[in-house]
Amino acid sequence: MGPLLIWALAKSGVKRNKAINILFMFVRLVSLWLTIFPMAYYSIQNIPLTDLAKEFGTPLYVYDADKIREKISVLRGAFEGIDLTIKYAVKANTNLSILRLMRENGVDMDVVSPQELELGLIAGYEGSNITFTPSGVHFSEIEYAVSKGAIVNLDNLSVLEKFGQTYGSSQPCLIRIKPHVFGGGNEKIMTAHPESKFGISIHQKAEILAIVAKYKMNVVGLHQHTGSDIKDGKTFEQAASALFDFAFDFKDLQIIDLGGGFKVPYSPEDPGVNMKEVGQIMSNAFSSFCAKYGRELRLWVEPGKFLVSESGTFLTETNVIKRDPVKTFVGINSGLNHLIRPMMYGSYHYIFNASNQDASKQENYRVTGYICETDTFSFDLKGKENERLMNEVKEGDIIALANAGAYGFTMASHYNSRFLPAEVLVDGGTARVIRKRETMEDILRNQE
Ligand code: LLP
Repeated sequence: MGPLLIWALAKSGVKRNKAINILFMFVRLVSLWLTIFPMAYYSIQNIPLTDLAKEFGTPLYVYDADKIREKISVLRGAFEGIDLTIKYAVKANTNLSILRLMRENGVDMDVVSPQELELGLIAGYEGSNITFTPSGVHFSEIEYAVSKGAIVNLDNLSVLEKFGQTYGSSQPCLIRIKPHVFGGGNEKIMTAHPESKFGISIHQKAEILAIVAKYKMNVVGLHQHTGSDIKDGKTFEQAASALFDFAFDFKDLQIIDLGGGFKVPYSPEDPGVNMKEVGQIMSNAFSSFCAKYGRELRLWVEPGKFLVSESGTFLTETNVIKRDPVKTFVGINSGLNHLIRPMMYGSYHYIFNASNQDASKQENYRVTGYICETDTFSFDLKGKENERLMNEVKEGDIIALANAGAYGFTMASHYNSRFLPAEVLVDGGTARVIRKRETMEDILRNQE
């Protein structure tokens, strides 16, 4: 092929030496691609995905600890010069080993249930490092969180009143505001628009202030969370500035919590948020608010996906290939029971054949699961069920799904009475099980 390329280049007027240089550059690029691409996709910390599948079995969630550390440092770097606290939205991934990793790296927690809070305490967190941001929970859960030393985000006027009645000024709290801003990857994950159930409407400021004054409440912070999968800096700016405008009537603030929602890249054609740019926008808006407010406050952010999504790869095995007259299906040993995001939101997950790196023979496949209802994994970037061009798949091949670190395992279920997948963490070049594969005993536990 080399001499042919030189000949073709020479024929089109390129000098022989230059043609040779172009050839060398081409060879170097190909070899670079061959080394980087498999490293990036086919292995984690140099351990081939196929080895992980062989050692630990499938279906398997695998997380890369280095990737999580990298994302923490990118986030911190984006808010340089700001007194920033990262409150990891643990609902994205609650595995104890992931929580410990977050704690070791100075990341606090945002939880939404007593059980998540409990997991945090077991992972070694102090209650004071935990924020409880519930929605529609019984007041007893809020009392439980307070008893553990967590700080609560109150998101309903009646709950605010009850908190005032119960604790007066003795307990600090934050108030979650609904800023009436539209933002998020799809309707199901937008949380700040006028019809959203989350937060107290920004138009109910008078009612909020009346309750706060009545019970002399200790409101130390204001919170808002716009939605998930937001890429656009303008949306973050809009939500933040709505909250800042609202904040001047609260005289004792120490904290502004701007929530999470930073979009991650799901494919090379679908870039995530430019964290540096968004961090800059948010930092500037925050600094100028602090200057007007007359005091330096602390800034909190609550990312889930941004910290863990890209760390995770979901490994499955091809049970069957079905060559239908209309489509070719790749049937893997998983389904919407283990990764519900595609079927629930039309989410895109990059899917590839980890057993075959040879791209010379590719085919379009519809990747589906083994659940007894439609459980397609191969949605396109427009949120439609579709096919994926993949390296040729054979029965037994390991099929990997990227971006599986957030809302993968935590949203998995026992539907069709199937076991939950095992989880493995790769750290320091070594892989270890951080959640065992289930057995029939787990399914039978607590049943009669
Ligand atoms: N803070 C609050 C109050 C939240 O409700 C959430 C997510 C977050 C922070 C973190 O958002 P993130 O940074 O992860 O986008 N299951 C959906 C996402 C639901 C998000 C729920 N709330 C999905 O898989 O796309």
